Amino acid sequence: MLLTYIVLILILFFLLTTLIPKNVLDWQLEFRKNNLEVACEDISQQVEFYLRFYDSSIYGTYLDNLTRQYATSMSSRVMIYDSYGRILSDSFRQFGFQNLYLKEIDESLSGKTAWSSYYFRDIGNVLYLSVPVIYEDQIIGGIFVSNSINDLFDNVNEMNHDIRQIIFFAGILITIGIAIISNHFLKPINKFYPVIARLSAGDFTERVDVKTNDEFKMLANSFNTMSVKLDEVDRQRRDFVGNVSHELKTPLASIKLLSESLLLQDNVEAKVYREFLIDINNEIDRLNNIVSDLLVLVNMDKKQLVLDYQPAYLNYLIEKVIEQLKPLADQKRIKIVFKEKNSIQTKIDKGKIKQAIINIVHNGINYTQVGGQVTISLYREKEFAVIKVQDNGYGIAEENIPYVFDRFYRTDKARSRITGGTGLGLSIAKQIINLHHGFISLSSEVGKGSTFYVRLPLS
Ligand SMILES: Nc1ncnc2c1ncn2[C@@H]1O[C@H](COP(=O)(O)OP(=O)(O)OP(=O)(O)O)[C@@H](O)[C@H]1O
Ligand SMILES: [Mg+2]
Repeated sequence: MLLTYIVLILILFFLLTTLIPKNVLDWQLEFRKNNLEVACEDISQQVEFYLRFYDSSIYGTYLDNLTRQYATSMSSRVMIYDSYGRILSDSFRQFGFQNLYLKEIDESLSGKTAWSSYYFRDIGNVLYLSVPVIYEDQIIGGIFVSNSINDLFDNVNEMNHDIRQIIFFAGILITIGIAIISNHFLKPINKFYPVIARLSAGDFTERVDVKTNDEFKMLANSFNTMSVKLDEVDRQRRDFVGNVSHELKTPLASIKLLSESLLLQDNVEAKVYREFLIDINNEIDRLNNIVSDLLVLVNMDKKQLVLDYQPAYLNYLIEKVIEQLKPLADQKRIKIVFKEKNSIQTKIDKGKIKQAIINIVHNGINYTQVGGQVTISLYREKEFAVIKVQDNGYGIAEENIPYVFDRFYRTDKARSRITGGTGLGLSIAKQIINLHHGFISLSSEVGKGSTFYVRLPLS
């Protein structure tokens, strides 16, 4: 940044010290030339008559007086010459009736005003101007003026000097200013490096602390939010892996124990073998359930998951769920009641939503005493279809409610062992419903029962 500014300042310096003085000088020269030209026009009007009838014996003194007078008022050397370029009068009295062969005089004798500036070592800068005197389209002579323009060069040099000084000091000030400002603004960036390094090394607890109140603060805030999120994800991942290993380990340990005890005993009765094998088989079923639930969850985690949206009647879907779970409910003599069977159609991934409802109704059956009841209702509420699943079972304690959708969370591990739950059913259901931009919520009271609400958008 500093380098860019310095280069810009140098370019500016170059432009200001070359272009501007040159333009100012040109403009001043032009102005001087115009003034001299006006004076020459003046002289040419007065000498026109004399040039037409020139006779040195009669008019010499008159012309000499005229050149001297104008030379004083114009602070210049003034000469009058005839149509052959011969000097008739010179305010310096140096030349008389001779040709000077000056470029400007030659040009003026072809009818146009000519001027140039020269530099002479002894007298400095000089402007030469030749103006023709024309009478009835005839060039009858001309006026030559040489004027010192050292003053113009002095002016411009002085200005140049001032500009250089201003730019020099401005440059120093700007450079210092930029150095301070860039240091001030970029300092917060340095705070990110160590934190990013820690983050890359897997430590998500570090936060960036930026004191300023600008974009860097916003950046730091976003960065910290990201670290918090990463930290959270990292924690969830570790919990998940821990939970999965634990969940898989328990049935594996049972299987190991059962098979070992069979192997270590001699002459085991076929009946005992059978009993143990049934237990082993149950544990294998359990392992199988966990693994397939995990697969469902992992597949739903994929961001690119595409739902197969199709219009479906929710009432019809619920009836199918009830049909599927009826044998299970019958075993516990639990009645499944479907009331308020409004016919509601919406676009959903049928297979997935069915799975979610099964998980919820299955819980209603699982966590309700023998002879209980599970009531399902379907109705519209604003832009949502609501599926309400109510049971009169054990209920969930208030402090456990926030966690029931967490993976592997079970309020009562002992009972879940009997019912065979892995604690994944509700988190799968929630994931499915969220993918459909819907919501799941519940209210529950211990000893009275639980009510789950699934809200699915109608459009
Ligand atoms: N209707 C309910 N009544 C009482 N407790 C419930 C009910 N539904 C869920 N719970 C509690 O919430 C926990 C989590 O439920 P979830 O369905 O996720 O797992 P699970 O039923 O234990 O196992 P599974 O993965 O086989 O469904 C359950 O273990 C249970 O303690
Ligand atoms: Mg369940």
